Amino acid sequence: MAILEIKEYPDPILKQKAKPVEQIDDSIRRLLDDMVETMYAAPGVGLAAPQVGVSLRVIVVDASPKDEGAKLMKLINPVITHSEGSTSDEEGCLSIPEISGEVVRAKKISVEALDENGKPVSFTTDTFLARVIQHEIDHLNGILFIDRLSRLKQDLIKRKLKKRAKKEEPEKL
Ligand code: NI
Repeated sequence: MAILEIKEYPDPILKQKAKPVEQIDDSIRRLLDDMVETMYAAPGVGLAAPQVGVSLRVIVVDASPKDEGAKLMKLINPVITHSEGSTSDEEGCLSIPEISGEVVRAKKISVEALDENGKPVSFTTDTFLARVIQHEIDHLNGILFIDRLSRLKQDLIKRKLKKRAKKEEPEKL
């Protein structure tokens, strides 16, 4: 396993819609394992493939720090088949360090996906896991949590991030 580099805003891959996985083979299983290692090392509770530079519909989640009974999940081509209610909570993202914001999400979701062996999995959740999965599936659609904040808050954050990006640019000789 290997720890992968996490792409940060404004890397253009984070705005792309990821492609479905068509064949689940060892290279996909290796990607999943590397994503798990990367997520735990960060540390984070979820990671989507575009965040490590791979534009495929693959996510890993482990909501157990805030969700008793939650366990590690590796999900391929995940789809939300049903959602209801709404709930607001503070969110951050490994691709947007040091930024957080209050995001409204569905309270309860039903999910269908494939596991690493290509076996269909489906479940319904209304705990913190539901928020994590919605955040990660957003990544597969090129949507960041800051895109879901109020226009005012978005402008504020984007200005801050732009300023930061400029500061990190190397000196031009
Ligand atoms: Ni994220």
